[in-house]
Amino acid sequence: MKRILTVGLATLVVVTGMCAKSKMTPRPAQLSFDPSAGVERTLTMPDGRKVQYTAYEGMYYVTNVEDSAYQTINVYVPLGATQQTPILLRTYVGGYMAAAAQQPKAGDATGRALQEGYVVAIPGSRGRNSTVVAAQSDKKAGIKKGQTLYTGRAPAAILDLKAAIRYLRQFDDMMPGDAEKIITDGTSAGGAMSSLMGATGNAAAYEPMLRAMGAARQRDDVLASVCYCPIIDLDHADMAYEWLFNGTESRQQGDADVLAVSNELKALFPAYLESLNLRTPDGTPLAADNYLDYIKSELIRAAQIAKNAGADIPDSIGFQFDKEEMSGMPPINGGVPQAGVPMRPMMPRGGFGGGKPGDYIIDLDMPAYLNYVVSTQPLKTAPAFDTRQVAGGRASGENEEFGDANGSSVNFTDYSASKTGVVLTDEIRENVRLMNPMNFIDGGVADVAPHWYIRHGARDRDTSFPVPVNLALKLQNTGKDVNFLLAWNRPHSGDYALDELFEWIAGIVSKPQRP
Ligand code: DHB
Repeated sequence: MKRILTVGLATLVVVTGMCAKSKMTPRPAQLSFDPSAGVERTLTMPDGRKVQYTAYEGMYYVTNVEDSAYQTINVYVPLGATQQTPILLRTYVGGYMAAAAQQPKAGDATGRALQEGYVVAIPGSRGRNSTVVAAQSDKKAGIKKGQTLYTGRAPAAILDLKAAIRYLRQFDDMMPGDAEKIITDGTSAGGAMSSLMGATGNAAAYEPMLRAMGAARQRDDVLASVCYCPIIDLDHADMAYEWLFNGTESRQQGDADVLAVSNELKALFPAYLESLNLRTPDGTPLAADNYLDYIKSELIRAAQIAKNAGADIPDSIGFQFDKEEMSGMPPINGGVPQAGVPMRPMMPRGGFGGGKPGDYIIDLDMPAYLNYVVSTQPLKTAPAFDTRQVAGGRASGENEEFGDANGSSVNFTDYSASKTGVVLTDEIRENVRLMNPMNFIDGGVADVAPHWYIRHGARDRDTSFPVPVNLALKLQNTGKDVNFLLAWNRPHSGDYALDELFEWIAGIVSKPQRP
């Protein structure tokens, strides 16, 4: 029964976007790549430099194409690339919506990657808003001819992106670029996709669906994932949000129903945190009583890095600076803040040589800082993600993401379901599980990328600091190479500090690869 349903849906469909109403269902008999189909192009970079490359566009990465507007991949090969050249795979997913395969852009990581000589792959993927029109009825599946179907709901986007990775492996010998050196990149919901590509390599849970789609029978693990402000851990993001932001003036002085929800959600976070068994990079176990201090140390580290580079860090937002000249001991690590090392123990009074009063941040008033963060952009309501019908909340993008092919919006957390009186179906629970990279990092259920670059803006309030911090720590605790920063003064945004990013990429691709 299940197989018939899947096949039914997979073969039904027609197309939105460019070919809308054409009623042509592309059904390539097999996946293909034509090396002679490349087109020469030039990209002019912001500094005026011109980058020449060859474009291969519009390749289907599955044989059972359900949505021809999105299930394609573009590949861009800069002059001089070889079979050994690493591949930057950029997803333009945002807001959990569909994203078409796009062309490289001079102002983001794709243009920069071409300029650095890397191959760039840009796959499209279906999303919560993508629809197709049923070409024929299917009584068993309850679908009528002409019906609009939302086929991009969870977990379609990550399935599409995994199929795209498999496509690159399938034709690795025919196109320049090394599919064993794929570095994924995305921002926000795209950061979530990037983290999923990194965390779920070859995981069995996705296999039957990838087979039904006609994805290449190839591996889909990657070398590295670059994740800007990943909106992940959606089943725990509401509690993390309230745990962090409950005490802000904005929450405390806001709507009473929202505050009541906030209080309840906040109380759920410590048990979840403790279930993760996280440790700081120096091995200290983390629990609710020391976790805020850890986040504080990460914010101070980020601000100190920015200050060392010339940024003006105002004390009006909670920072406290040393008042006396620091002298006596040699600087630790040249005075450069180290990942995961709290700043205060690093800088005891009189501990650093050469520092002027005010050079070093010695403390941060977290309540003041959090009030500052939410003054730069108003808080989301509570719950922040699973809002549907809780405290007067309307359906969020995430409620749509977990909805079905009819376009429904559904609750997806135990907390919100308990408020609305709905029962979470096994299917919703499974979709939530498949969309959360935290479920695949340990336990040996996936081939997790060995290298990670994770950034979350120090004034980003789209999700709370614990979400990316937990991702980074879980990866670090399981032995992955993680470069994490709560990037100073960054709002919800991505593909920034590209000099730094590409220095990091150059470092990881020059390391010996796994066998
Ligand atoms: C995005 C932002 C959000 O606040 C969210 O809840 C989901 C996605 C985004 O920018 O992709």
